[in-house]
Amino acid sequence: MRSITASLLNDTRLGNIPYMDDKPISRATPAAEPEAFPQHGRERMILPQPIGALGTGQPNMEAPLLARMSPERVFMMGDNPALPRMPKAPKLLDFFRLRFSEITYRHLLQSAKTALDAGQEEKIVIACLLHDISNGALLRTEHGYWSAQIVAPYVSEEVAWAIQYHQALRYFADESVGFKYPDTYNHFFGPDYEPPEYIQQAHRDARAHRWYMTSRLITVYDLYSFQDNVIIDPEVFTDVIGRNFREPKEGLGFDGSPTAHMWRTMIWPNNFL
Ligand SMILES: [Fe+2]
Ligand SMILES: [Fe+2]
Repeated sequence: MRSITASLLNDTRLGNIPYMDDKPISRATPAAEPEAFPQHGRERMILPQPIGALGTGQPNMEAPLLARMSPERVFMMGDNPALPRMPKAPKLLDFFRLRFSEITYRHLLQSAKTALDAGQEEKIVIACLLHDISNGALLRTEHGYWSAQIVAPYVSEEVAWAIQYHQALRYFADESVGFKYPDTYNHFFGPDYEPPEYIQQAHRDARAHRWYMTSRLITVYDLYSFQDNVIIDPEVFTDVIGRNFREPKEGLGFDGSPTAHMWRTMIWPNNFL
């Protein structure tokens, strides 16, 4: 997976897009609790998520894997030994360190740090820190909407709103803040790409909203946050998170919030059900 991503990013046909490489970076891992992994002694099969294979030409493995089931071979449920074990009561930065892809990890930290260094209010900094959170370990498609929904129970309504609308605002320039249509989008989608009507409508709605600039500023700090030579310690955001993100005492995933299942999906991404 990593090598595929790296080779895509190194593809010279993409030009000199200012994207970071995908080399693993050192991320402190909390000491794992010395506890056996579940389903001991049996082979644990992983069925890829249906949406990941849809339309790709990759075979759907559901039927073949069901056919391989036996008393010694079951479907994975619970901690996957191939992933770092999460703490029992995980906090926001645990997901950054232990689950997010390298690119999203660095992008979110850089984006938030750029906003912080520019003297932006904390609501902008936290919005930048969370704006692409679904890309980290859940889903890229409709990432503004997913990201907003994941964090909505834990941030202000304004921050969640801004995160949702940044997806649409990225397609539309705003000269008042020096935001132009991203060059990278010409590379990603082709120079003639037109966003669909629902995105254009979201842009019009956002423009007319009192929180427009909160969302717009996410796109401003989004643009410059894909460098590979910038190392940011996530702990620099501890205070901002403490004041702007309600960490549940039970841990993210276990607090019964309307989006707890999304956090659990990132903790145990390979669960069969
Ligand atoms: Fe985004
Ligand atoms: Fe972004």
